[in-house]
Amino acid sequence: MLADSFRNFADWAVGTSPLYERLARGVDLHPLDVTDEDDVRWLRALVWPEHATRHRLLRSAIAVAREDPPELRRGDAVEVLPSVLDGIPASRPVCLFDTQMRYQLDEERDAELRETVAAAAADRELHWLSGHAAAERDNALVLEWFDGERSRSLVAYEQHGKWVEWLL
Ligand SMILES: C[S@@+](CC[C@H](N)C(=O)[O-])C[C@H]1O[C@@H](n2cnc3c(N)ncnc32)[C@H](O)[C@@H]1O
Repeated sequence: MLADSFRNFADWAVGTSPLYERLARGVDLHPLDVTDEDDVRWLRALVWPEHATRHRLLRSAIAVAREDPPELRRGDAVEVLPSVLDGIPASRPVCLFDTQMRYQLDEERDAELRETVAAAAADRELHWLSGHAAAERDNALVLEWFDGERSRSLVAYEQHGKWVEWLL
């Protein structure tokens, strides 16, 4: 799960603004560090050898992440998230992002996470992009966008990024 604080989302998306200020923080039970060669070897081992496109994408993603590595926290996101958010000035909008993590939480833990995020969103501008399995599609996920008040299905995507389909 990534907490990403920024001033101007549109400029962040194109990466051109001098106002752009970003502070990426990642939380995982077992975080992998792209600046660590062993961790990179493990990431590469997770991609099937014949998936050449995914290997190219992973190499590019690692290169980008190495230019500005996120601050990594080892821990349970449900417990660690409040202190991660406390470390980001309340005046800054925050984007939380997880693509395929919540299926590993049991129902009770997932409900706690949703409560924690909703409580944080009551005090500051916060957006949560969160992936979950799309029951009606094979190997696909749906990214839900919670803007602090309501949730919308934003996009469906193949789990390895082969395709995306906007749902809004
Ligand atoms: C399939 S991987 C996907 C990781 C991907 N970067 C994401 O955030 O969607 C699932 C990850 O969730 C992590 N995870 C599972 N339960 C967690 C928890 N309670 N807190 C933080 N990370 C957790 C696992 O360690 C694993 O790295």
